[in-house]
This record gives sequence, C-alpha cells and structure tokens, in this order.
Amino acid sequence: MTSLKNDTFLRALLRQPVDYTPVWMMRQAGRYLPEYRETRARAGSFMQLCMNPELACEVTLQPLRRFPLDAAILFSDILTIPDAMGLGLSFAEGEGPRFERPLRDERSILKLAAPDPTDKLRYVLDAVSTIRRALDGTVPLIGFSGSPFTLACYMVEGRGSDDFRHLKAMLYSEPALLHRILEVNATAVTAYLNAQIEAGAQAVQIFDTWGGALTAAAFREFSLAYTERIIAGLKREHEGRRVPCIVFTKGGGQWLDAIAACGADAVGLDWTTELGAARRRIGDRVALQGNLDPNVLFGSPAAIRSEVARVLADFGPGDGHVFNLGHGISQHVDPDHAAILVDAVHSLSRRSA
Ligand code: CP3
Repeated sequence: MTSLKNDTFLRALLRQPVDYTPVWMMRQAGRYLPEYRETRARAGSFMQLCMNPELACEVTLQPLRRFPLDAAILFSDILTIPDAMGLGLSFAEGEGPRFERPLRDERSILKLAAPDPTDKLRYVLDAVSTIRRALDGTVPLIGFSGSPFTLACYMVEGRGSDDFRHLKAMLYSEPALLHRILEVNATAVTAYLNAQIEAGAQAVQIFDTWGGALTAAAFREFSLAYTERIIAGLKREHEGRRVPCIVFTKGGGQWLDAIAACGADAVGLDWTTELGAARRRIGDRVALQGNLDPNVLFGSPAAIRSEVARVLADFGPGDGHVFNLGHGISQHVDPDHAAILVDAVHSLSRRSA
C-alpha cells in the first residue's frame, strides 16, 4: 500500500488542520468534458461505461488530469443497486434513467431483496480497485451510494419526477410498503458501501438528492432514519485510517441539526444554505462540504473568483471545510471555468505561515 501524497481532503473531513481548503466537484467526471463524451461513445452507452472497470477508471481520472482536484470520485451511478435488484435500468440518449419494472404493487415489493455486492455489483468493486491502483496515492478516492429514500424515488416512479406522485401516494396511504423498500435499500447500501471500502474507497458519500422533497416529519421517518441505520453499519476504519462519511441532502438546510446527528463526519450543503450560519449551528460537530451555486460556473472568470471568495469568507477562518458545488456540475459548463474555480479555491484559501 502506498501512502497518500495529498490527504488534505481526508483531514478536512475530520476537521484537522490543513494548508488550504481542499476541493472536488460533484459530477466532476461527466459530459462537460469532451474526453468523457469520447470515452462514453467508445463504451457504447453510459451503463456499458459504468460496467467496464478500465473505462470507468479512465473517466474518473480525466478531470484530475485537467485540474489539481483534492479527491477522485468513483465513476458509477447511484442506480446500480436497483438495477442489481432486477428492476431493469436503462438510460436512453438525451433522457434520464428509466426502470422497466418499477415497484408499484405489494407482490413485487415483498420479493425485493438486497443484492450481494460481490456478485451482481462486482464491476463496481473492480472499478474501485482499478482506480485505486491508477491513482497511486496521489489523492484519495471517494466511493458513494444513493440514500435509501432517493433510490426508492426512482424505484417507485420508474424514472425521474417533479412531483413524485406514485412515491408520495405510497408514503401517505401504504407507508408499510415504502418502509419495506427502504429497509431492503438500507441493507443493500450498507453492504455496497462496505464492499467499496474493502475494495479501496477512502471516504464515502451518501447522496440524498430528493430528501428535501419531504415534510420535516417525513424526512426524519423515511429518509434520515435509514441513512442513520447505514452509517451505524459502516466500516469506519480501513488500511489503518478512518474512512470519513459525508451525507449530502439537497434541500436539507432546515434540518441541519438532525442531519448533523446522524453519525456522519461531514454534511454536504446545497447553495441555498448559508455556510457561515450552518457552521455556527453544527460546525463544531461535523465538517461541512459545499456550497457554490453550480450555475456560478456560467458566469465570467471574475465572477467565479468573487463567488469562490464569498463562499470561503462565509465559512470563515479555521478548519473543517471541503469546498464543493452545491449540486452537480452542468454538462453545459466550459471546462476552463472549472479550472478557474479550482485555482481560486486553492489560491484564496492558502493559510499564511
Ligand atoms: O460525481 C461523479 O463524477 C461520479 C459519477 C456520478 C454519476 N452519477 C455519473 C452520471 C455520481 C456520483 C452520480 C450520482 C447520481 N446519479 C445521483 C445523485 C447526485 C445528484 O446529481 O443528485 C442521481 C440522482 C443519479 C441518477 C442519474 N444518473 C440521473 C438522474 C441521470 C440523468 C440525468 C443527468 O443528470 O445526467 C444519471 C446519468 C449520469 N450519471 C450521467 C453521469 C456522468 C450522465 C449520463 C451520460 O453520460 O449520458
């Protein structure tokens, strides 16, 4: 095992002192990079790209060749779990994900079972170990999963949605069925993240993209309770180091106290939450990750620098901040603008000796 040359990201997640604020970008490997589009075309489709460990490794490394990012994130998708459960995932060109067999009736929900990650999701674990080898200790590798609730949104709707009406009908009229899906998902995610850690992931992030669509009470009961269960079951140390866990709930800004108590080392914030206010509320308990509005990257270089400065100033002096976007980078962003962001974070945050 090679030791890490740059552990700034892992140290910041544990609120340890760092020389500058580390940065990575959600969706840093993706369609805004021409070399990504070229590799995806070579793979044939997005899912074939995810299922080919060599090509998944190649696209993971692409943003790191362009920008001095402080972490790599496994190239995969949150929907690999429901696919491995037999729901039949496809991504049509130019459209979002689709499931052939969404979960709408009791019979299919009672049949649902957590997949063995070392079998059906072997391709993800192979990608993790391939990427770790290729990174050769330059920066840490982040593994990830969707939250049980966010996965359930896609599993019940069968696709993305703006109102989640099938899911909400189930939540309000047949909550026991939704709880059953969430229980299976929590078991599946725990095993999946632990397998990624065993394969070499040095930190993990749980994406709760749709938790913010719930009421406060429903968020605690149907989302946070299952995230807590996962974290309680995670392997927290590997290769002699703590494996930090980040929870990102889009739209979760009103529930920060509850989220900060879920057992995670760090909480990811979207751009609607004030970082300084969040730090005063929960920053003595967890590290914070975020939270530049991803659309700032459509602004001028000068605007990007000043918005980066604003986020850094909002957090203020001291440790425990990982710079990120408040959500994934858009496919329409100019890669040169991402370069300006990364450079601005590093230069503006460097601690004077
Ligand atoms: O961050 C990274 O660079 C790692 C890779 C990654 C992808 N998806 C690759 C991807 C990660 C961490 C994800 C997470 C993911 N996937 C989430 C949670 C984070 C978020 O954005 O809220 C969700 C909800 C999904 C489900 C998903 N996958 C959707 C809705 C879509 C289609 C719409 C879209 O935004 O592209 C995908 C496809 C997908 N996943 C792409 C990539 C690069 C684009 C597919 C393509 O190349 O055509």
